[in-house]
Parts: sequence; C-alpha cells; structure tokens
Amino acid sequence: MTSPDLPAELKAALDGKLRGFSRSDAAGRAALISKTYRGGGNSGAIRSEADALAYVLARMPATYAAVVASLNALIEIRPDLAPKTLLDVGAGPGTATWAAVEAFPSLQHFTLLDANDALRALALDLARDSTRLRNIGYERGEARTALAKADAADLVVASYMINEIGDTEQRALAELMWAKTQDTLLVVEPGTPAGYARIIALRDHLIGLGAHVAAPCPHDGKCPLELPDWCHFSQRLQRSRAHMQVKGAELPFEDERFSYVALTRAPIEGRRASRVLAQPAVSKVEIAAKLCTAEGLSFTKVPRRAKADFAAARRWRWGDAVC
Ligand SMILES: C[S@@+](CC[C@H](N)C(=O)[O-])C[C@H]1O[C@@H](n2cnc3c(N)ncnc32)[C@H](O)[C@@H]1O
Repeated sequence: MTSPDLPAELKAALDGKLRGFSRSDAAGRAALISKTYRGGGNSGAIRSEADALAYVLARMPATYAAVVASLNALIEIRPDLAPKTLLDVGAGPGTATWAAVEAFPSLQHFTLLDANDALRALALDLARDSTRLRNIGYERGEARTALAKADAADLVVASYMINEIGDTEQRALAELMWAKTQDTLLVVEPGTPAGYARIIALRDHLIGLGAHVAAPCPHDGKCPLELPDWCHFSQRLQRSRAHMQVKGAELPFEDERFSYVALTRAPIEGRRASRVLAQPAVSKVEIAAKLCTAEGLSFTKVPRRAKADFAAARRWRWGDAVC
C-alpha cells in the first residue's frame, strides 16, 4: 500500500521552492483561489508562480492522498496491473503522476496535459530533480485538443479535473480519455454529491462503451445508492507546518473526501469483494456495516457471538474491499 503522505522527493522539491516564500502571502492567495472554487470558478484563478505555489501548498497534499487511496483500491483488485505508460489529464502540478509513480514501479513513460501555464511550469520544476520524473513530457493546451494528439497509455488518470469542464464537454472528454486508455482509466473527483454525480455519469457512459469497473464498485451494474445518499470515501493525511500555516489550520491532519472510479478494458475475474461504504458502527452486540456487494446494497450485521466473523469485521474500514 502506498502512503497517502507526499513522498520525500516531492517534499524536498517543494521545500526548495518555498524558501523565501511568505506564508501569509501564500495564505492570502490560497484563500482567494478556494473562494473562487467555492463560487463555482476554476483554476483559471491560478495565474502566477506564487499562485501556483499557494495552491500546491494548500491542496496538493489532499488531492495526492485521494489519488493514492484510489490507486491502492485499484491495485488490491488488480494486483497484476503493471502499467508502463501514464497519461495525466488536467495534471496541474503533477499530483496524480507523483502518486502513480509511487504506486507503480513499472511506470516508465509519463505524459501530462494541462491548459494552465503556471501549474505546468511548477510541475516541471518540482519534477526536475526526481529520479523517475525528470524526463516527463508535459503538453500545454486544452485537454481535448492535447488528448487527441497524445499517444494511448496503459493508465490514464484525471484527478480533480472533470469538475472544471462544462457538462456537455464532460461526455466527449470521457470518450476521448477512454479511447486513449489501453488498460485502466482512473477518475477522481471531490467527494461531494456533485462530484459523485459526475463520476456516475462518466461510469455509466463508459460502461455503455464496453468498460468494466475495477473499483470501487464490485459490479458493472447501476449504482444502488439513491439521493440524498452518494458514494464517497475519506482519506486522512498529515499536514506539514507550511500546510497548516497556509490553511490557518490547528490540527496536524485533515480528512479528504473524494469519489472515484477505476475502469478497465478487461472484466474483473472471480468473486468480487464488497466495498465498505461508510465507517461501520461497532456496538456491544454487533457490527453494522453498509456494503456495496455484487448483488446490490447490503446493510450487514455481524453479531458479537459469531466470534471469528466479528473479529474480521472489526478490522473493516470505510473504503475497504471485504469478503
Ligand atoms: C483542481 S486542478 C487539479 C490538478 C491535479 N490533477 C490535481 O489533482 O492536483 C484542475 C486542473 O485541470 C486543468 N484543466 C481544467 N480544464 C482544463 C481543460 N479544458 N484543458 C486542460 N486542462 C484543464 C486545470 O488547468 C488544472 O490544472
């Protein structure tokens, strides 16, 4: 399992960039960027190197942790997966690429695409001294145009990106990403009802085009959750001192909520493990867990008297795949 915390090489590169960079200036910029996001805006608000650094300080640890958690879930279902090539769509500072490098020692060739000059420049700077990422190719441009020109890759990732694309373009982008996917496409979005809705729309559309779900769902059928419920997960990550300063935070950790789907070309063989959809409730008499199973939604109760099952269910955590 890959750790949800930023790898040492990336931390060192970031520390280098942060020398002499005012934390209060960064905090002001990060607050403005997040206000833009909350108001329905996008990363167009990131225009300068200082904006890009402020964004990275405030958000990269959390989006990295969400991508790692999604990749860990994918690898658990597909332990044989050993992609050689990666396409990171809407790569920004290179978050998903750094996560994929940690998760897959097999990766050798990296292509990143993004329209934002400031984030692209920072990504290239951060990767410059990395053993495995110093030769990344980073195309600047609108996603669909850049994707159309890109070579297909074993693993295609779009992390926290679809939400910046208009509703009508999302379908076309999903089709294009799928067309460029040789093995697996991973899409990660914020764990909000709207983020989940985007994931489900893309999931349904691509299943219609022949995709199979590796994670989180143990089936290719319709999502059994109904509004106001939505499928999302939570990943805890540590905050560095700079991260805390920029966010004006007091706690040394945060929990990132995210939704995701990993779609593969080949169907997943064998019996599918169920997905734990919320933190199970442990009481004196039983463990109550909400599971997405191959047959649909199940509110499972494991009585304390079933000793072995109870001991196993005690280890279940929100997001786990369990048998
Ligand atoms: C919230 S950032 C996420 C960056 C990165 N994937 C991550 O997880 O940290 C969204 C990224 O998508 C890029 N983006 C949004 N719309 C795009 C488009 N139409 N074409 C290319 N890039 C786009 C933005 O420039 C930005 O870098």
